[in-house]
Amino acid sequence: ALRGSFTSKAQKSSHRSQYHLNLQASYKVAILGAAGGIGQPLALLIKMSPLVSALHLYDIANVKGVAADLSHCNTPSQVLDFTGASELADSLKGVNVVVIPAGVPRKPGMTRDDLFNINANIVKTLVEAVADNCPDAFIHIISNPVNSTVPIAAEVLKQKGVYNPKKLFGVSTLDVVRANTFVAQKKNLKLIDVDVPVVGGHAGITILPLLSKTKPSVSFSDEEVQELTAKIQNAGTEVVEAKAGAGSATLSMAYAAARFVESSLRALDGDADVYECSYVQSDLTELPFFASRVKLGRNGVEAIISSDLQGLTGYEQKALEALKPELKASIDKGIAFAQKQP
Ligand code: NAD
Ligand code: LMR
Repeated sequence: ALRGSFTSKAQKSSHRSQYHLNLQASYKVAILGAAGGIGQPLALLIKMSPLVSALHLYDIANVKGVAADLSHCNTPSQVLDFTGASELADSLKGVNVVVIPAGVPRKPGMTRDDLFNINANIVKTLVEAVADNCPDAFIHIISNPVNSTVPIAAEVLKQKGVYNPKKLFGVSTLDVVRANTFVAQKKNLKLIDVDVPVVGGHAGITILPLLSKTKPSVSFSDEEVQELTAKIQNAGTEVVEAKAGAGSATLSMAYAAARFVESSLRALDGDADVYECSYVQSDLTELPFFASRVKLGRNGVEAIISSDLQGLTGYEQKALEALKPELKASIDKGIAFAQKQP
């Protein structure tokens, strides 16, 4: 059921025959921060996946009720709950994909970087446990500021001697989901057909939608490019303001994260045609981490797609250069934090 809503038409037709034969519930997924605004709807969406055999829900509070509730859905996966630091290790044993939305969300007036002081420590602690208990898992980092929390996770994994850059992902799928929605609306396109690569990072001007690379091919006026780019970059803040103190995007984020989990599971399952944008260790630019389209396979990132950065428009080229100092500062801040820890 889930596949239909997450997979584009082009993706579907190319792997339909080989894929539908081996649908089997066999993967274990853990959500760390599972009782939160993102965690709960994300758990529900993952519970619907036919590829999942076990869903491990971890949080520091309130997770028992979420798990009891969810466990009554008659879909294949078994739901298990884990509460507090003493149960963290058990929540991670044997897990194939770990999703981390633990941490505080923004309130109006805050930047994502304002969350750094609290969320950096949370991500560090959780990734240490991942390193100790399921170092081979795909790790999906949602906690903000993603531009810094992913470099923190990489440093922690390095310190533990288990860093595999192919399996560490910053979840930037929501930027693609938004870009696809806004472009389809603006240009009256069928949503299912639209795919806009979004590169760079996940905050403000570091979010760079490459509208010139939109599929299907579509032309935009300069005004449309400026308006759409700003709308996509500002979409998180729009939700923060609309929620007026009650948090940031949770439902669209859960949808986006579930799409990224489903893509990861399809890749693990041997589907040879899985592409997503993600913020990963990258040699596409001089920055050590950069979001772009990547090809996913059984071992994680199989290839970083460089073609999207070729033949950029003047506007995109300028925006790319403009985002680099901010993204670099966020990466450096994350690395410095992780390296100064005892
Ligand atoms: P929330 O406050 O509703 O939920 C966070 C959950 O994390 C809570 O249940 C809390 O108990 C839990 N938690 C806190 N510390 C923990 C720890 N040490 N271990 C385990 N769980 C812990 O927040 P939310 O709306 O779900 O947002 C979570 C994070 O996701 C925020 O940092 C937010 O900025 C980020 N976010 C990222 C994106 C993205 O595109 N990457 C989109 C939306 C939100
Ligand atoms: C988003 O893009 O919605 C998230 O990063 C949450 C936020 O703080 O905007």
